[in-house]
Amino acid sequence: MNQPTRPTPTRSDAVPYPAELYQAVHCGNEGDIRFYRSVCAGAHDVLELGCGWGRVAGPIAADGRRVTGVDLAAELLERGRASYPAVDFVQADMRTVDLGRRFDRVLIPYNSLYCLLDESDVVATFRRARAHLRPGAWLIFDAYAADSFHRESDARQEWDEAAFVKTVRAAGRTWDVYERSRWVREQQRIEAVYTHVARDDAVAVTSTIPQRYLLREQLPRLLAEAALRLVEIRGGFHGEPLESDSPLLVVKAQPTAAA
Ligand SMILES: C[S@@+](CC[C@H](N)C(=O)[O-])C[C@H]1O[C@@H](n2cnc3c(N)ncnc32)[C@H](O)[C@@H]1O
Repeated sequence: MNQPTRPTPTRSDAVPYPAELYQAVHCGNEGDIRFYRSVCAGAHDVLELGCGWGRVAGPIAADGRRVTGVDLAAELLERGRASYPAVDFVQADMRTVDLGRRFDRVLIPYNSLYCLLDESDVVATFRRARAHLRPGAWLIFDAYAADSFHRESDARQEWDEAAFVKTVRAAGRTWDVYERSRWVREQQRIEAVYTHVARDDAVAVTSTIPQRYLLREQLPRLLAEAALRLVEIRGGFHGEPLESDSPLLVVKAQPTAAA
């Protein structure tokens, strides 16, 4: 297979990251929608924190659940409202959101927790999730598993070489997408830069996504600080055990009795 040539960053940063392009590139992990629909079986009220354009929230609402989606990004929420009118999309910060009611499930799918760049923000979000859960209800989230990366990578890496990710169609164009990253292991911080090169006239759009990953051993303590108890942790959406080479962390937690 011919790989497209790598981009030379030129006029890229002048063009904003269009939501349609973001939507085409960051489109979830295989099996995640089916997983989240199945864990919502029997639920009446579902809250998704960091819902984007409703990729997960929309199908759950189509199953007949009452779904609220919270996100900071106005443009993504607008796209969500257009595609999934049954979802109640709310613009709010998951670290501070207060909807004044409780839910049977709170979901944080597809790395949204890694958008939070320090530990206190993760605990604040877990506390908000806890405050929106009915007794006995579940918090469920997934993110990429970073333990082996954390163990094996260099302590610090400046920009690595751009790697081809995929080709997508968006905004009437075909785009070749490349990713490069740098990290500081001690801080669990990775900065990923996506460069999207349009095939027609070589316009490039770059977007930086800063992330702070979590380690498996940190989860029980972070959840406990929010009066949540780790119930189950898996390495995939089909109940796979979490192993050193698992690609994902899939976590279920419940409110502890005291809180
Ligand atoms: C990787 S996307 C996941 C979107 C969606 N959950 C999905 O599975 O397609 C992360 C989302 O988290 C949102 N986000 C990041 N920080 C946030 C915050 N503090 N409060 C609310 N949303 C946030 C971003 O705007 C983005 O839509």
